[in-house]
Amino acid sequence: MSKATATAHSNIALVKYWGKRNSELMLPQNGSISMTVSDLNVNTTVEFGSFPEDSLVINNQKLNKGTEEYDDYVGIFLNVVRNVVKKDLKAKIVSESNFPIAAGLASSAAGFAALALATSKALNLPTDEKSVSILARRGSGSASRSISGGFVEWKRGEKEDGTDSVAVQIAPKDHWPEFRMLTTIVTSSAKKVKSRAGMAQTLKTCPYYKGWLESVNQDLDIVRKGIIEKDFTSVGQTSEFNALKMHATMMTTKPPIIYWMPSTLEIMQSVMAWREEGLESYFTMDAGPQVKVMCLQKDVLELKKRISELNGVQQVIECKPGDGARILDRHLF
Ligand code: DP6
Repeated sequence: MSKATATAHSNIALVKYWGKRNSELMLPQNGSISMTVSDLNVNTTVEFGSFPEDSLVINNQKLNKGTEEYDDYVGIFLNVVRNVVKKDLKAKIVSESNFPIAAGLASSAAGFAALALATSKALNLPTDEKSVSILARRGSGSASRSISGGFVEWKRGEKEDGTDSVAVQIAPKDHWPEFRMLTTIVTSSAKKVKSRAGMAQTLKTCPYYKGWLESVNQDLDIVRKGIIEKDFTSVGQTSEFNALKMHATMMTTKPPIIYWMPSTLEIMQSVMAWREEGLESYFTMDAGPQVKVMCLQKDVLELKKRISELNGVQQVIECKPGDGARILDRHLF
């Protein structure tokens, strides 16, 4: 059978991936750690055959060849797949997400994780987590982490061919079910600078990028240990610190990249003030204005209430540790 459907969840990085050492193989400059989340997911059906050309529909919207969204992402991925199977098959892809795409909620991570698993199944390629993670990485680096559930580390790897740059589970979702990410949407419009372009610009022009690379391994060690020991303070503090360091490199590129909106900053400062009062929470942001607030289950109600009352907050989505990518029986077409 050449048709398959898979579902995958987004993941939110606690220690961020920022910068590539090989952009064709999508090999990162540094390792990263994330939590695969329960409530943001993408379902994708892919069929390979002798169609006149590839086609892609995301959330009922057709994406055409010749657009940056298509050519630089799915277009490249499908060429990688054709190279692997050594056949000129064309693909029909239909994808649905339950959250706004391109809003900084890791839609490419969930999207390429689902597409990589569905593709592997449809073309009879290996479907073990390691193989699918390596294939998903070729679509979008962070997608390599959404193949596994719970808490996941994408190893930087050392090999030039990328065979050791793979995501592995640190702990399953049931290890720390109290951990929460309150994903706060302050705008649902598309982001201005995509992560891919932003990280390339950082590598080229940011004088502090060296400092990022020199300190990231320490963050990885602390967060990995913190997850294993369920030490919320240690994971929260280090994740927040890591996100701020990444944003400091973004802001100091030429031209500068500032993803934050006024409401982004308002949430960050509120979280810091609430923490002073004893309501323990930490923030993290990716390549966009949304803030993800880390907390434990016992504080969810109070924090949701307080965050919702802040200016500019459109929606708060409570995310728990979630499952990895899996095959679905029901196709979208
Ligand atoms: C800031 O995985 O979207 O969200 O590999 O170029 O597709 P590409 O980039 P992408 O970058 C994610 C960057 C980040 C941090 C993270 O998720 O680790």
